Amino acid sequence: MAGAVLVTGGTGGIGSALVRHLSAEGWAVSFTWRSDGAAAEALADETGAEAIRLDLADRAAVAACAEALAERDASFAALVHNAGATHDALAATLDIERAAEVMQVNLFAFMALVKGVVRGMTAARRGRIVAIGALAAARGTVGNGAYAASKSALEAYVRTLAVEVGRRGVTANVVAPGWIDTAMAGDAASGLAKAIPAQRLGTAAEVAAAVGFLLRDGAAYVNGTTLTVDGGLGIALAASK
Ligand SMILES: NC(=O)c1ccc[n+]([C@@H]2O[C@H](COP(=O)([O-])OP(=O)(O)OC[C@H]3O[C@@H](n4cnc5c(N)ncnc54)[C@H](OP(=O)(O)O)[C@@H]3O)[C@@H](O)[C@H]2O)c1
Repeated sequence: MAGAVLVTGGTGGIGSALVRHLSAEGWAVSFTWRSDGAAAEALADETGAEAIRLDLADRAAVAACAEALAERDASFAALVHNAGATHDALAATLDIERAAEVMQVNLFAFMALVKGVVRGMTAARRGRIVAIGALAAARGTVGNGAYAASKSALEAYVRTLAVEVGRRGVTANVVAPGWIDTAMAGDAASGLAKAIPAQRLGTAAEVAAAVGFLLRDGAAYVNGTTLTVDGGLGIALAASK
């Protein structure tokens, strides 16, 4: 179903894999970036993608971007919300301002961007919306309160969206990675490989491939689901309870 796709957080580990994978699959990719202009420019040069500077924590900037997207002549056939923020602290000691920023980047920015692209999708009777969630949404992990809450809310929102837009040829799904070898996972993650049935961390390219599948015509009947990409970690944790 290739067409135009918007990817948030395009210069990150999974984000840059998404930009490369979707460009290679024939999508006309636009991606947002926040802090690394040189990386954004290099990625745009390499893939032919369009780079859009956007701080997703800036609510007014996100609203303005969503409005601009809605007014584009050519509407987006797909949206992939990949950018993600974290604030690691014990649940009872969370800094509420920082927790709110996590909610803004992970959830509210996504809701605003959906507003910007969904009308064009429903009018065209074709569209794919994918949000990158996290296995952490379904697990209790020390220090993950704000992040897990935001990703869990993201899943609940996507389920609702899926029901509302499904009749108009649009699907909405979540891809929930386990431990993926990127900057966000950090050095500690390599020590966790033994607990993962696959005995290794996942790669950003493997997450991008799962998203790529959901964007294809053949995935038209997959709607409102969470596709876990975790090397079997989630099911192993559930079994060891
Ligand atoms: N790696 C894992 O093990 C793992 C596991 C589960 C879920 N995930 C999810 O996968 C997604 C991608 O993460 P990653 O592993 O690729 O980590 P990453 O390399 O750290 O990328 C995170 C991306 O989010 C962007 N971002 C953060 N705050 C932003 C803001 N205020 N405005 C705009 N962009 C912002 C970053 O942009 P800047 O670089 O400009 O800050 C970066 O592009 C995230 O949603 C994350 O929650 C990752």
